[in-house]
Amino acid sequence: MKDERSIIARYGDLVSNPQEFFDACSRPLPTTGWINPCKPRVSGDFPSDASREKMSWNQDGFKTESPLNEGILADFLTGRLVFQEESAMTSVHLMDLQPGQKILDLCAAPGNKTAQLSTRLGESGMVIANDISKARLGVLHGTIDRLGLANVATTAYDARYFPIPEELFDFVLADVPCSCEGTSRKHPGVLSRNNADERKRLVRNQIDILERALLCVRPGGSVIYSTCTYAPEENEQVVHRVLERLPKGFSCDLLPVVIPGLITSPGLTSWNGEVFDSSMSNCARIWPHQNDTGGFFLAVLRRSPAAFEAASSLLPSFHEPISTSEWPWKLHAFEQNDLLPWRRTQFSNKYDRLVGAQCVPPATLAVQSIGMTGLNLKSDHPKFSTALATKIGHLARSAWAEIKSESTLDYWNRQTVPYISSLAPVENTKTVIVRCGGLSLGLGSISPLARSLESRFPKVWGGLQIAERIHQIRST
Ligand SMILES: C[S@@+](CC[C@H](N)C(=O)[O-])C[C@H]1O[C@@H](n2cnc3c(N)ncnc32)[C@H](O)[C@@H]1O
Repeated sequence: MKDERSIIARYGDLVSNPQEFFDACSRPLPTTGWINPCKPRVSGDFPSDASREKMSWNQDGFKTESPLNEGILADFLTGRLVFQEESAMTSVHLMDLQPGQKILDLCAAPGNKTAQLSTRLGESGMVIANDISKARLGVLHGTIDRLGLANVATTAYDARYFPIPEELFDFVLADVPCSCEGTSRKHPGVLSRNNADERKRLVRNQIDILERALLCVRPGGSVIYSTCTYAPEENEQVVHRVLERLPKGFSCDLLPVVIPGLITSPGLTSWNGEVFDSSMSNCARIWPHQNDTGGFFLAVLRRSPAAFEAASSLLPSFHEPISTSEWPWKLHAFEQNDLLPWRRTQFSNKYDRLVGAQCVPPATLAVQSIGMTGLNLKSDHPKFSTALATKIGHLARSAWAEIKSESTLDYWNRQTVPYISSLAPVENTKTVIVRCGGLSLGLGSISPLARSLESRFPKVWGGLQIAERIHQIRST
């Protein structure tokens, strides 16, 4: 096992106070995350916000010292909260996203940045979330449903060969695979895994992925290149190599990275005797001791806007609202206007999908999934999914039941709980949308005589083994 301290020792000369850097690296990382701006809390009586401190630079971001409480669990399970390391949240904040834009996330899994992109676009636009690993894409699909992201489509290409579409993207995120040194506060063993051959392989991939990203972005659009490592070989040196070998007639600028409220250091202009382009100081490094975070690197490469046309004029006017006759069950509970932002598509034979109106991937892409899980079409009556219930359940005008906040942990733990009020389910089904204090929690089946509700919450949701988490909460 390598001496981990000696691996980061080589960065001591790059920071103004090496001891503070080394000390920060040996402290555990605070728990941080952000609140989904697309799923505001209507009202609610969960204990929650008191334990959360706002971030200085990110209005949706929070830090907490007690991640295991009922309020945070409620927000997590209803898709209102995402846990994400603070420095990793910055890449997406560098994009000045406008409604209707099309974004490519080339190395997207497990999907926290995809989720940021999607929610910052609101219900508009489209995010293509690509990752070479289908297993890791599976985690991303869980996040899509938990957060209710209807404007994301996923693909599984090797980013180095991602098919360049005719209509290029407004932004491309290249959050590349790297040696992850900056995550050592969270994953202490990560430093000892690094070796020279692995680094060479990573660097070759990083250069190829960044080059591909530049070919996929429209003139005037930007590529964000980010890593969670300190290694200059994977950061400034990669950006420098790519700028050196741009194809003829292709130019781009490195834009200054500024994040008001967050302390950053400029990118290096030399390393190991090699001098880089002076514009490399426009990149940003986030060191752990500066803001009590992990380590991160950011570069923004803007493709020269010579042939730029307003993105909005290129947007297809594709809008096919869902009609109540198409989606028979339970729509009695909704009004047509509730469903206007989406289209539906039958992507697999079990569930249909709810898809953002502007989420129209290029026909040349082999899409793995599009939008979020909608209705289960396999049962006798097409059934709601938990994803759909947590997204639009608060709008239902019938077929709902309200439970008390003290019953929520039992509900999530798949127990039968009492309900306090309900509005009749439709047709002959007993299935209802389960609500508590303005939040829509999922689905259940009611027995009106006993005034009880059988939970139909999934055993695993958003990657969390629910029973385990509830057990932890109850024993603290
Ligand atoms: C740093 S992680 C991305 C984290 C992600 N952006 C997020 O915020 O959740 C890098 C990802 O790149 C993927 N990857 C590695 N090589 C790739 C390639 N050649 N093409 C596409 N994805 C690749 C890995 O599977 C991994 O999920």
